[in-house]
Amino acid sequence: MEILLFSFFGLLIMAHGTAESNLSDDILVPHSLENMDMEEGDEIDLFELPSWTSERGSKVLVNVDGFGAVGDGISDDTQAFVNAWKQACSTTKSVFLVPLGRRYLVNATRFRGPCADKLLIQIDGTIVAPGEPKSWDPKNPRIWLDFSNLTGVLFQGSGVIDGSGSKWWAASCKKNKSNPCKGAPTALTIDSSSAVRVKGLTIKNSQQMHFTISRCQNVRLSDILISAPEDSPNTDGIHISESTNIVIQNSKIGTGDDCISIVNASSTIKMKKIYCGPGHGISIGSLGKDNSIGIVTKVVVDTAFLRGTTNGLRIKTWQGGSGYVRAVRFQNVRMEDVSNPIIIDQFYCDLPTSCQNQTSAVAISQIMYRNITGTTKTAKAMKFACSDTVPCSHLVLNNINLVKMDGTAETYCNSATGFGYGYVQPSAECLNSSDKKFIVKQADDAQPSERVLIHTEL
Ligand SMILES: *[C@@H]1O[C@H](CO)[C@@H](O)[C@H](O)[C@H]1NC(C)=O
Ligand SMILES: *[C@@H]1O[C@H](CO)[C@@H](O)[C@H](O)[C@H]1NC(C)=O
Ligand SMILES: *[C@@H]1O[C@H](CO)[C@@H](O)[C@H](O)[C@H]1NC(C)=O
Ligand SMILES: *[C@@H]1O[C@H](CO)[C@@H](O)[C@H](O)[C@H]1NC(C)=O
Ligand SMILES: *[C@@H]1O[C@H](CO)[C@@H](O)[C@H](O)[C@H]1NC(C)=O
Ligand SMILES: *[C@@H]1O[C@H](CO)[C@@H](O)[C@H](O)[C@H]1NC(C)=O
Ligand SMILES: *[C@@H]1O[C@H](CO)[C@@H](O)[C@H](O)[C@H]1NC(C)=O
Ligand SMILES: *[C@@H]1O[C@H](CO)[C@@H](O)[C@H](O)[C@H]1NC(C)=O
Repeated sequence: MEILLFSFFGLLIMAHGTAESNLSDDILVPHSLENMDMEEGDEIDLFELPSWTSERGSKVLVNVDGFGAVGDGISDDTQAFVNAWKQACSTTKSVFLVPLGRRYLVNATRFRGPCADKLLIQIDGTIVAPGEPKSWDPKNPRIWLDFSNLTGVLFQGSGVIDGSGSKWWAASCKKNKSNPCKGAPTALTIDSSSAVRVKGLTIKNSQQMHFTISRCQNVRLSDILISAPEDSPNTDGIHISESTNIVIQNSKIGTGDDCISIVNASSTIKMKKIYCGPGHGISIGSLGKDNSIGIVTKVVVDTAFLRGTTNGLRIKTWQGGSGYVRAVRFQNVRMEDVSNPIIIDQFYCDLPTSCQNQTSAVAISQIMYRNITGTTKTAKAMKFACSDTVPCSHLVLNNINLVKMDGTAETYCNSATGFGYGYVQPSAECLNSSDKKFIVKQADDAQPSERVLIHTEL
């Protein structure tokens, strides 16, 4: 079965047409992503990662309690964490330990690398942020726990990172119109790092975004739990920016904003076994705000369940941007009561005033949706709202079944081309293509005996 699926994923869609843009081998179906699959029990050996308990002898335990942390949830343990970090970071094979059963109040803190080899960050207890926005460190308005410049580090444990965000939410301009719109801290940030693994942590009630991965390479997250109330503003679950080679696996996210959002300069991102809801779904974007360049390529969502979200699989860009989103594949996704299950929105605008249409836009092409099923809350189960001047192209749909209880599900298209094959419900006839013929062939079959499916009725 696995082999069958893999060769299926290797499908390459080629377009034959006159003014057709070139499709290279690794679009639609970025092969490099296939190798990023992690099956059950498949441990990641980015580097040696024995659990510190089993090899305690060779590990140097750096317990925050040993640096004066009190862990009563009231005393300020920031300095103890800073001192313990200094020690752990400069010691080979050390374990920065936040022990089980306590609650450590910690202020905005930067945990900077580079560190000595084989650092393990074991978080078993709870780390809690001070809850009063008015006394937040003005020097660090956008961060709470910020880790940067790390290489070959493992974060793990059953611990909880609790942003105590309720006062921040109440003060946000989305909740209280008389307040200015200024950002709040991200609970956990991993920045400018590589070969990082994060396993098993819970992050909740962040002031704003929960977990940001920025300027990173080779990061694997698994078994992450993220939660915040549905009405908490801008509390994205996992936010990826300027990063490549990121895997998010087996994670459950329910917040007041995107479960996962992927923004500029990110590529080769794989999400597997994602449970999302409540929230705004899994998003690429927004991109292109204020006429900026936005580039995101090679993204795969494979096996996801979304329940009660306002969007399902979304790509959102602002008018006036430039750059592109391409080679994206969404597959094996089940939706339940999702308002906009499949949506490309090139008119994204979350300003109080409406945004003018412009001639430039972030180009969107080579987006594949396959095996997407479930129920939609609105009639527009599939919405491809693309720029009049920069149409979406090579949108491919296969095995789609999205239904609305009253039977009115439909597909909306504006300036979108591509095609559907196999079962596609609601019908995607509006997604017509200027091409007369598409050839779907096995890309990973180098033989000339490629299986060729020709879609003729376009
Ligand atoms: C397609 O690729 C060929 C050769 O690589 C190039 O000459 C041509 O300009 C490309 N066409 C487009 C539309 O990018
Ligand atoms: C955190 O930082 C702020 C500003 O520097 C300070 O007023 C506060 O006492 C610190 N500690 C806690 C627990 O808030
Ligand atoms: C990362 O560490 C290197 C030293 O290895 C240093 O030169 C660089 O400035 C650091 N970068 C950041 C963002 O802290
Ligand atoms: C909204 O914010 C203003 C100014 O910060 C404050 O005076 C007011 O009490 C807030 N309103 C609510 C409903 O919290
Ligand atoms: C997006 O990333 C590209 C580089 O890939 C950069 O040139 C551009 O300025 C970035 N856009 C924004 C909004 O930061
Ligand atoms: C289609 O997706 C569902 C999950 O939504 C999965 O259970 C099923 O195995 C998938 N079918 C194929 C043929 O991959
Ligand atoms: C922008 O263009 C779209 C598609 O043609 C149209 O539906 C929308 O009303 C336009 N928006 C504005 C603000 O003109
Ligand atoms: C594609 O659909 C548009 C309306 O969405 C229609 O105007 C156009 O003629 C169609 N083109 C083809 C090739 O069917």
